[in-house]
Amino acid sequence: MPKITIDGKEFEFEKGESILQVAERNGIEIPHFCYHKDLPWAGNCRMCQVEVEKMPKLVISCATVAQDGMVVHTNSPRVRKAVRGVLEFLLLNHPIDCPICDQAGECYLQDYYMKYGLHDSRIDLSEKVRKRKAIRLGDMIVLDTERCVLCSRCIRFCEHITKTGEFGFSYRGNRTEIGTFYDAVVDNPYSGNLVDICPVGAITSRDFRFKCRVWFLESTETICPSCSTGCNIFLDTKDGIAYRIRPRYNPDVNKSWICNEGRLSYKLLNDEARLLQHLEKENGAYKSLSYENAIEKTTEKIKRIVSSNNEKVLAIASPDATNEDIYLFKKVFSHYIRTPHIYLGETSGKEDAEKREDQILRRIDKHPNTMGAIFMGISTPPGGKLTPQKAAEIIKANDIKMLYFMSPSLIKEGENSEEFINALKGVELIIIHSMFVVPSNFPVNYVFASSSYAEVSGTFTNYAGKVQRIKKALPNKGDARGHYEILQDILFEISGEKRYEKVEEIFEEIKREYEQFSNL
Ligand code: SF4
Ligand code: SF4
Ligand code: FES
Repeated sequence: MPKITIDGKEFEFEKGESILQVAERNGIEIPHFCYHKDLPWAGNCRMCQVEVEKMPKLVISCATVAQDGMVVHTNSPRVRKAVRGVLEFLLLNHPIDCPICDQAGECYLQDYYMKYGLHDSRIDLSEKVRKRKAIRLGDMIVLDTERCVLCSRCIRFCEHITKTGEFGFSYRGNRTEIGTFYDAVVDNPYSGNLVDICPVGAITSRDFRFKCRVWFLESTETICPSCSTGCNIFLDTKDGIAYRIRPRYNPDVNKSWICNEGRLSYKLLNDEARLLQHLEKENGAYKSLSYENAIEKTTEKIKRIVSSNNEKVLAIASPDATNEDIYLFKKVFSHYIRTPHIYLGETSGKEDAEKREDQILRRIDKHPNTMGAIFMGISTPPGGKLTPQKAAEIIKANDIKMLYFMSPSLIKEGENSEEFINALKGVELIIIHSMFVVPSNFPVNYVFASSSYAEVSGTFTNYAGKVQRIKKALPNKGDARGHYEILQDILFEISGEKRYEKVEEIFEEIKREYEQFSNL
């Protein structure tokens, strides 16, 4: 393999890699604005200059391909002087409004100035070229043209990734300005990524602007729950509140991107309508129950029904639940209760999980774990998605006495279907899990308040069968519990099986039982 020496250390590299890429891969920082690992090279900011022995001039490391035997210096006096010069040019007309800029704390310009600049301005404030500020370009982004360093990342993103081509430069020299044609809105479904790729505060998020300084946020590495792609994300939180979702780089799944739908999905976590207590329906009205009481009452009724009618149970798993939740669900209903009527709700199954909604990331199946359920042998009923009509047929044909739904969606979907509502009337016990408050006319007996993906740890399996870890980022809401906690307590009550101490223990069991998980 060819080798290159950077700052006295020798590194191997792949043919075609730039000096900057080799340096970055090996933890050597070369300051840069226009280079972005998932965009075509532009080489226009000149910030990444380095000295290469036997070359007369400094070169831009982002667009200079590494060669065998090359000797590179990233921090020589010549390089430092050049980088300082570039920074001085970029800051010459910059408004330096960091105290009111939402990018502060994650701004390349601010960080590089502190590290490589520290010069005094040679220009008077009154001489600066002023440009337009706070231009709303649709629901997702706000543009401040005088903070722009003209790196062209936004132009290349819209040209090569979304292929929508909204951005371009106008005018010349120090009046060059970034913008869209007559301030046209940028409403492509991936426009939120422009906030992340803009290295300065020129493009900021309309949603997140001024809500919280970024250094107060805590970031948790997790997975987007809004479709079967399973994009890797950071969920940023503070004091039990979710503030934003950002993409987390994964070259095999989402590279550096996420869609707007996934980005804004954090709002559901803070929703006022989150269910905080477990409920029992009595005389047509809900009353709240402690968790222990809810487990005691439901398991007592479950035991009574299954003692003589174990095959008259319909159990519906949710593709929003984790692998660990679904594994315990199967254990309760298949191994202990032994009903043959166990299905996956809400999704049309494998075909939708794999089907693309566009050529970038989004998929038709808006659930993160359809494939996990399928791998563990829980599928949609024959003929596809479990609709209220199909559920009504199953209930009638099998004289179902007990229903257990891991989510309220089927009941919500069927609330106007006479056939479905009539079928439910003949069922003795209906138990659901729900993240949100349920209407009082819902034909259910018990509701367990369930946690969101952000309040539990576990794993999801994406459309391609890739198992990815989610991590707890928020405390439980009220008395809500993760699906697996509720199911393991039910399991304990009906079978005496031990409770798991950690969710990881469940995953170890899954690995032993299912081939698709065995080598993880
Ligand atoms: S708006 Fe941001 S991403 Fe676009 S050219 Fe300016 S600095 Fe670069
Ligand atoms: S493409 Fe799917 S998984 Fe990725 S961010 Fe969007 S909704 Fe989430
Ligand atoms: S990062 Fe190399 S020229 Fe901009």
